[in-house]
Amino acid sequence: MFETRVTEIFKIKYPIIQGALGYLSGPELVSAVSNAGGLGSLATAGISSATGLREEIRKTKSLTDKPFAVNFSFLPGRGLKHEETRDIIIEEGVPVVETIATGKIPEHILKPLKESGVKRIHKCSKVSHAMSAEKEGADAVAILGFGADGHPGLDEISHMVNVPKAVESLKIPIIMAGGIADARGFIAALSLGAEGVLLGTRFLTTKECPIHPNIRERLLQAQETDTVMVDVTHGVPSRRWRNKITLEALEAEKKGASLEEMIEFLSGERAAKALREGDVEGGCFGCGQVIGIIHEIVTVKEVIEGIINEASAIIERLRLLAQA
Ligand SMILES: Cc1cc2nc3c(=O)[nH]c(=O)nc-3n(C[C@H](O)[C@H](O)[C@H](O)COP(=O)(O)O)c2cc1C
Repeated sequence: MFETRVTEIFKIKYPIIQGALGYLSGPELVSAVSNAGGLGSLATAGISSATGLREEIRKTKSLTDKPFAVNFSFLPGRGLKHEETRDIIIEEGVPVVETIATGKIPEHILKPLKESGVKRIHKCSKVSHAMSAEKEGADAVAILGFGADGHPGLDEISHMVNVPKAVESLKIPIIMAGGIADARGFIAALSLGAEGVLLGTRFLTTKECPIHPNIRERLLQAQETDTVMVDVTHGVPSRRWRNKITLEALEAEKKGASLEEMIEFLSGERAAKALREGDVEGGCFGCGQVIGIIHEIVTVKEVIEGIINEASAIIERLRLLAQA
């Protein structure tokens, strides 16, 4: 069911991918996604040693025999050297990488990965960047819409335009990334020509995600308007949950704080601590607009099976509509 080039290339049952959740998508969450037929992606944010990364990968392998990805970020401020990450991925036989970058990814990183058979999903928000990724050998591109968490870009292009534009501009499969909570988003993505979906915020509120129950409960009450973009002035925009610390960060940005000064508010460690300890106002963490349509805490398996089962019901409804 729903077999596409994405299921074929990445050898997964359903074309549903969990985008990395820094400090959160560890072996338990990732293996739960992969075991449920999707593709989990191991976060590398917060891993500062080669041994740490190797251990996380090995633990994931011990929890699933299904394919999974490792997030390979080329954004500034990550602890591990790219060469080290590349070598560990190859040595450990990781089947897929989810890359994210602000510019060109060096050939000496990409070539050995490709030659070792590691498949690559490149995540970006601009169609022009997606085209470059295709030229650089990516196997699929996950294209982010403006409502997505993470780095949805400065162009403010919605999925309704970004996805069809990417589909008509590239030959490799397109994955619609962000803004998807359930079968409605899944079917919309397929209708726009995408061959898979990538979800982040939806997995943030699953039972397997290691966040404090206080945060989970508060997230369920959040509306689609409860996110804001920070670091826009520094050219590295990211969408975060609107809370006290995020509003302080915005205020500092307005007053001209430098990128380094913004770290005090936006640091991943600080966000991770708040998420773990249940300090609802104390960490500036990622969250997509889709939070406004997430109303329950369920297991990863329920998210994935829910999407697949309800998708068939939507198709049937549309079929009847077309006949009427
Ligand atoms: C809490 C959180 C942490 C994230 N951390 C990362 C990360 O470390 N690396 C990355 O490439 N994307 C990261 N993302 C982005 C997701 O992988 C994904 O691209 C995005 O959440 C999709 O948009 P959605 O949240 O609307 O589904 C994060 C998202 C969230 C919600």
